[in-house]
Amino acid sequence: MKPLIALRDWVDARLPIMRAWDTHMGKYYAPKNFNFWYFFGVLSLLVLVNQLLTGVWLTMMYNPSAEGAFASVEYIMRDVEYGWLLRLMHSTGASAFFAVVYLHMFRGLMYGSYKKPRELVWIFGMLIYLALMAEGFMGYVLPWGQMSYWGAQVIVSLFGAIPVIGDSLVEWVRGDYLISGITLNRFFALHVVAIPIILLALVVLHLLALHEVGSNNPDGIEIKKNKDANGIPLDGVPFHPYYTVHDLVGIGVFLLVFCFIIFFVPEMGGYFLEYANFEEANALKTPAHIAPVWYYTPYYAMLRATTFSLVFPAKFWGFVIMAAAIAIFFVLPWLDRSPVKSWRYKGWMTKVAIYTFAFTFIFLGYLGAKPADLVVLGIEGKKWAQWFTFVYFAFFILMPFYSKWDKTKPVPERVTS
Ligand code: HEM
Repeated sequence: MKPLIALRDWVDARLPIMRAWDTHMGKYYAPKNFNFWYFFGVLSLLVLVNQLLTGVWLTMMYNPSAEGAFASVEYIMRDVEYGWLLRLMHSTGASAFFAVVYLHMFRGLMYGSYKKPRELVWIFGMLIYLALMAEGFMGYVLPWGQMSYWGAQVIVSLFGAIPVIGDSLVEWVRGDYLISGITLNRFFALHVVAIPIILLALVVLHLLALHEVGSNNPDGIEIKKNKDANGIPLDGVPFHPYYTVHDLVGIGVFLLVFCFIIFFVPEMGGYFLEYANFEEANALKTPAHIAPVWYYTPYYAMLRATTFSLVFPAKFWGFVIMAAAIAIFFVLPWLDRSPVKSWRYKGWMTKVAIYTFAFTFIFLGYLGAKPADLVVLGIEGKKWAQWFTFVYFAFFILMPFYSKWDKTKPVPERVTS
């Protein structure tokens, strides 16, 4: 033990590892009333590590070329020892990543975690979300199945709707006159090198920004306002060992669900791995129904529902609406004018708005995953998508008003358990 401590002290004299540990773990005081919703941050970290590790190993066997990609994935699944496990951990991990991140963001909505002083934490979170979407999209092209190919075709061609530069931009992104091995090759480079680096850097910034201001909690109370004589928040507990041990429970439950999916339902009925993707990419055969993976479908529904063509074609406006639907999340901290953070102390208007928004997001996701000729309760799916796109934006645009008018309850001095 002694030599180890000596080594630690030797390093510490040159690089303050003990100070970093104290700042972020041993003496980082987190509110003692974290609930279920606070597991999803650490679970996002866990899935990130899973994606990086399984990704590195998959890269050792994967062949990033139009001729070899599909076959190399088959090879990994059938011939490489435990290759199937690596691949399914990575493909299930992609869906798990979005699932935990969506729940993590929803927690932010409920407890007003985006509000002052955590605006930057939220903005870094949104940048992570953007990077994650790009990462997922490019990763999905790599197995070079039918949906990889045609999904890429639909999304990349969206840039073509941009006036003047559109067509040249599409050509520049593809690196060719159609989606080809060249496109696959560059997406591979971005998926395995560039975006993971950006993602990691953003996660570090996200956590540094969070630890600077401290965590919010289900009551939306700033625990730093109530300190004891030693300057320690009365409602805080050191992150280590309290939350490190507590988080292990969440990790355990998550891993049970994760393993169940990998071993028993890895395709998840075509939602995690689409059936059309078990067929190799064919530039001459368009699948009857092209749909992105479930985590993009709310935005895809908005894109498909846009039919007006004022000056520019409908595709352009679809693209604008889709981009705006994501971008509007960035300004959330400035749209919410409520004097309290958590919905526990907000009035009925906010609660109705948040429930409606959650339903809208899920319903749009459902619509986006189904064929375009879907009919729900006798009404065309496209009509539903148009109405709910409207509701989606109303949640944000009306927020400055209802968050102000809503009658709030008094916030307690100290956290409730
Ligand atoms: C790779 C993805 C992400 C990772 C690894 C990650 C990690 C974390 C961790 C470990 C925490 C502290 C524990 C917790 O509060 O749950 C946290 C807090 C937070 N994250 Fe994330 N996060 C990610 C994505 C996002 C996204 C996409 C958003 C929103 C746009 C976001 C917004 C927040 C906010 C607002 C907090 C503070 C919550 C509070 O104190 O109540 N994060 N994140």
